[in-house]
Amino acid sequence: MTLLEARNLNTYYGESHILRDVDLSVRHNEMVCLIGRNGVGKTTFLKSLIGLLTPRSGGIFLEGNPLERKPPHQRARLGIGYVPQGREIISHLSVEENLLLGMEALPGGLNQNKKIDSFIYELFPILHKFLARRGGDLSGGQQQQLAIARALLGSPKLLLLDEPTEGIQPNIVQDIETAVKRIILEKGIGVLLVEQHLHFVRQADRYYAMQRGGIVATGQTEDLSQAVVDKFLSV
Ligand SMILES: Nc1ncnc2c1ncn2[C@@H]1O[C@H](COP(=O)(O)OP(=O)(O)OP(=O)(O)O)[C@@H](O)[C@H]1O
Ligand SMILES: [Mg+2]
Repeated sequence: MTLLEARNLNTYYGESHILRDVDLSVRHNEMVCLIGRNGVGKTTFLKSLIGLLTPRSGGIFLEGNPLERKPPHQRARLGIGYVPQGREIISHLSVEENLLLGMEALPGGLNQNKKIDSFIYELFPILHKFLARRGGDLSGGQQQQLAIARALLGSPKLLLLDEPTEGIQPNIVQDIETAVKRIILEKGIGVLLVEQHLHFVRQADRYYAMQRGGIVATGQTEDLSQAVVDKFLSV
């Protein structure tokens, strides 16, 4: 069964029609990349999937179960992990507290889950070192690692990543890329990645290209041509 299916999604901000009949799917163990220039609607799409925005029409199915009417926290518990653009780390909480927040998405929440899975320290050793540090005192790249770890601690079946390498120093970009590949291999989950770095985009299995809120091209990433790259990637 398909892990995620979005069918004919239409999302508006007030009267402005942003997403137009978006169809997109992600399979288990698959990395799918959504590309498109600034402002085309990529974040609007991810927010529609997690439930921060309500599409006016269309369907969203996680392993066949309809999600459209469920609030974000239920979608999280059903298996969608979300790493927002800009990371949204809670600055005044410690790294450890930020991580524990991610475990609210587990069945039973924090009441029934107290232990942070050490897998995330294997992925991002820096987080272990800085457990007691304030989230706001980490570098941008470290905050991104924390945001990914926080989402993983909810044991998602599908991880949504919104520009995880935006504004991050190149050596950490590579670490994040390696970690995402390892997450898919070892946890068997699906990933939907919004990304501008071509090298990272090329790690995905398939891509969808968005323009003015609609999907205008899709295919295997190995077939991604220079023309498509020039048209849909900003960097
Ligand atoms: N809260 C909002 N209210 C009204 N319009 C919005 C709102 N958020 C975004 N938009 C508009 O919706 C469109 C799509 O925005 P969105 O943030 O989804 O684009 P994006 O593809 O994620 O861009 P970027 O690459 O810059 O992150 C843009 O024209 C944007 O100006
Ligand atoms: Mg965006």
